[in-house]
Amino acid sequence: MTELTHPLATVPRDELVARAEADPHRPRFHFVSPAGWLNDPNGVSQWNGTYHLFYQYNPEGAFHHRILWGHATSPDLVNWADQPVALEPSDGPDADGCWSGVLVNDGGTPTLVYSGRLGERELPCVAVGSPDLLAWTKAPENPVIPAPPAGVDITAYRDHCVWRQGTVWRQLVGSGIRGRGGTAFLYESADLRRWEYIGPLFIGDAASGDQAAADWQGTMWECVDLFRAGGGTLGAGALGDRTPGTDVFVFSAWHDGDTRHPLYWTGRYAGDSYTPRELHRLDYGGRYFYAPQSFADGSGRRVMFGWLQEGRTEAAMVEAGWSGVMSLPRVATLDPDGELSFAPVPEVASLRRDHVRIGPRTVGASEVLAGVAGHQLDLELDLEMEPGSVFRLGILATGAEETVIEVGYDVGSGGFPQSYVLLDREHSSLDRTVDAEEKSGPVHLPGGKLHLRVLVDRSALEIFANGKPLTARAYPTLGGEAVRLSAAGTVRLQQLDAWRMEGVFGGPRPLFP
Ligand code: FRU
Repeated sequence: MTELTHPLATVPRDELVARAEADPHRPRFHFVSPAGWLNDPNGVSQWNGTYHLFYQYNPEGAFHHRILWGHATSPDLVNWADQPVALEPSDGPDADGCWSGVLVNDGGTPTLVYSGRLGERELPCVAVGSPDLLAWTKAPENPVIPAPPAGVDITAYRDHCVWRQGTVWRQLVGSGIRGRGGTAFLYESADLRRWEYIGPLFIGDAASGDQAAADWQGTMWECVDLFRAGGGTLGAGALGDRTPGTDVFVFSAWHDGDTRHPLYWTGRYAGDSYTPRELHRLDYGGRYFYAPQSFADGSGRRVMFGWLQEGRTEAAMVEAGWSGVMSLPRVATLDPDGELSFAPVPEVASLRRDHVRIGPRTVGASEVLAGVAGHQLDLELDLEMEPGSVFRLGILATGAEETVIEVGYDVGSGGFPQSYVLLDREHSSLDRTVDAEEKSGPVHLPGGKLHLRVLVDRSALEIFANGKPLTARAYPTLGGEAVRLSAAGTVRLQQLDAWRMEGVFGGPRPLFP
């Protein structure tokens, strides 16, 4: 029998893959680990044309413990090949886990900067890759930063954003200052090994807003990610000048062990600091799109991955033998109104099969769509809504279960017009132990026009309403596949395109490729 080393390691290792494969809730065209636990995307990149996705991985079981870096490669961001585990804990500063980090190109040498965990603390570490990125050697200098900044009372200290600026490297490490708010500490280095501390890039305000709010900043910022959107290069141009673009600072708001939600600031990074303009929610699903990380690919697109946490109990995850889904890669662009807009990479369309087109016509009180049904779907809708109308799209539906995506246009409340996208999971599942919390957020519908994209991959749901993402999970018990449309008020369906989506993995995959 396999040796069990953790109290949650109740499923023998050699059974994990079979359990995971047998689970009807396991997605088929999203990236998932072979079995066991997956959390954050790490080292997302394109190297010599090949896309690389590393991820926080525990092959011991579907729980977070002693994290390794899993690794997969792809020619197209859609089909993934498992590669050998890239990093594993070893004696030294990462003995208790190889936590999140990034990949950079150090003059032709692939280099990882990650958080080594030892005991209860994390410190920055470096590993150098072989030319094919398949073998990794930890730097003898680890940890490359021996301690968090002295004299600051921090809540935590981990995760990295590293970029080349002129002739030096710059790095952010996510953190929080007790009694004040989240922050990212800025460092500089000539060689990725010796880092000079500069100071906090800027400091959030944990006291602002309600702690229960969907845009509360938290007391620690995990997985900080800074990039220039809409043209120009990060660090180019002084504050207030006319250099194009907006510097987007993404972080995952964390508090006291609780992974809350991803947020982003728009603003300007110049010199040694960041001047934030506005704070936004990154994904209306909150914790269901956590710890995002992005990169600029060869064509200059800003591509982002996030971690879809589970909405079922710890015990249910452990029994299932797997936990955690990687989002489809999504392209981030800057809206004319200065906010981020998202869409899955167009390459995802290569998985589409059995096209059905419906419309134009008026949406009635309620109808089950004929010829469109399934657990793996890509739905694309163009709608025209009259002020005061509400459109509903039911998925994974049978008599007793249905997951409902709702969009309201100009639905007056308290005298203010209001337009929103909402996910109603109250009747998603007869299993009352799964999360059914409602998720929602504001959406602009200029002239009542809505482009709605919905990707259903068994328990993984990604919704884009005029570019605003809402990511979540649903765990129906009855195997419902129906798609249902309904409207209150006048809603015109210009066009609905639907496809069944092909899976990307051929069958069971080894835990250690
Ligand atoms: C975010 C996070 C990171 C950390 C990693 C550990 O989900 O908590 O802050 O590096 O996961 O797995």
